[in-house]
Amino acid sequence: MARIVVVGSINMDLVTTVGRRPEPGETISGESFALVPGGKGSNQAIAARRGGGEVEFVGAVGDDVFAGELAGVLGAAGVGVSRLRRVEGASGVAAIVVDGGGENSIIVVGGANSRMTELSSADLEVIAGADVLLCQLEIPVPTVLAAAEHARANGVTVVLNPSPVQELSERLWAAVDIAVVNEGEAAEFGAALDVVPHVITTLGAAGAVYRGLDGRKIPQAGIEVEVIDTTGAGDTFAGVLAAHWHEGPEAAMRWACAAGALATTKLGASVAIPELAEIERVLSPA
Ligand code: RIB
Repeated sequence: MARIVVVGSINMDLVTTVGRRPEPGETISGESFALVPGGKGSNQAIAARRGGGEVEFVGAVGDDVFAGELAGVLGAAGVGVSRLRRVEGASGVAAIVVDGGGENSIIVVGGANSRMTELSSADLEVIAGADVLLCQLEIPVPTVLAAAEHARANGVTVVLNPSPVQELSERLWAAVDIAVVNEGEAAEFGAALDVVPHVITTLGAAGAVYRGLDGRKIPQAGIEVEVIDTTGAGDTFAGVLAAHWHEGPEAAMRWACAAGALATTKLGASVAIPELAEIERVLSPA
């Protein structure tokens, strides 16, 4: 079982469903509303755990009404929360609108995630003891860099999902072993990705493609499902990929594509992340 540390964000998602998304200046009626724990870091941690990994989460919640539920959802999923801190002020929140086609628009307010400016010696110890470090960009980038460089120095495989897109230093890219990007991110980062030994680009319903440093490419076909909500599908892909990376890129992508597809079949991020048995059923139907 791979030991994975996720250093990243945790948000309460405020999810509204609509037939279509509003134009600028327009008011429309929504169809439903729900509060669903999310955040790229937390989603990826839960996905890695459900995907078969042993997972520890390093992150922060605030001292507001959402904090308890956010911490609880990680604990209930079996993710280690000994490095989850509670800081003063609001937890991270994400206002999410999902349209009739399952596409979303998201506005994230970082809250406690923005205050993840330092890693303690206990955090660093947990990172050094892992097989894989998995990061995203919803916490301050200097913290991601510190985690990645510490992981690299201790022989821990560094996986970066550079989302949401922002400018990154050559120093950070140099510390990354595996980048997991969608097509938009691949286009935005362009040549910066060339130094990363393993790049996996997700292609939505079409699956994913791997490229190695030698230019080798491995395509992985997608799995057909009825899409309800794509929120968190990329996170599910990244988490499950990290949990199965030790099996090699082909096998890891097969697991990750199946899990990512299943994650689109329900509304909400964390609640849609499949259990290992569900992924297995898709990969080896009886
Ligand atoms: O990737 C999906 C996630 O992005 C949501 O859960 C939301 O919290 C935002 O962070």
